[in-house]
Amino acid sequence: MFNLILFGPPGSGKGTQSEKLILQYHLKHLSTGDLLRSEINAQTPLGIEAKKFMDKGQLVPDEVVIGMISSALDTYPDVKGFLFDGFPRTSAQAEALDKLLELKRAPINIMIALKVTEEELVKRLLKRGQTSGRSDDDNDVVIRTRIGEYNKKTAPVADHYKSINKMVMVKGEGTVDEIFNALCKEIDNRMRQ
Ligand code: AP5
Ligand code: MG
Repeated sequence: MFNLILFGPPGSGKGTQSEKLILQYHLKHLSTGDLLRSEINAQTPLGIEAKKFMDKGQLVPDEVVIGMISSALDTYPDVKGFLFDGFPRTSAQAEALDKLLELKRAPINIMIALKVTEEELVKRLLKRGQTSGRSDDDNDVVIRTRIGEYNKKTAPVADHYKSINKMVMVKGEGTVDEIFNALCKEIDNRMRQ
């Protein structure tokens, strides 16, 4: 298996690049944000609970997202690997992911962090908010809260992967294709190791 984490703040392009990477490397895309939005659309109890946090730009409790990822891993036993997008977002989630992957004897191969300035993040998210219908995109205060949550709780997760030599940083500004090529270069390098 080849397991990849695409890491980065809200609006850094994780979703955009994931769509291209899963085609290139035949990975299964697991985005906790997308999974949560499907639960909201289906009006499940989990979705109704999660929405209260998401609308404010706050992280959903760890046990909720860890449970979702755990069952997603079991749903796709025969894939070539997983692309984790928007997960793990806290130290507790990173520890849980390590344990779940240990059971499969398939650790994380690489974590790629997209680096984008805060000014550019806010610009991208406000622009998408004009058309996306995502309630967490159309409000400057909620966007700032999301970035604040990232800086406080999520950014430290990168240190864990850095300490085990699995973390690389890629510039997340430029055209979508330029960034995609830079990501492929890092992944191809790691696959050859
Ligand atoms: P989630 O859905 O994961 O959202 P996010 O991380 O806040 O970020 P986005 O999905 O908005 O950005 P992205 O990095 O995917 O960028 P994208 O490609 O879309 O999470 C939403 C909420 O769910 C969280 O706030 C939290 O409440 C909850 N949640 C999710 N996972 C959780 C977890 N693990 N634990 C706890 N809570 C969790 O691009 C953004 C925009 O920029 C798009 O319009 C795109 O077209 C544009 N764009 C992309 N690339 C470029 C480029 N190169 N140049 C210009 N524009 C670009
Ligand atoms: Mg996304």
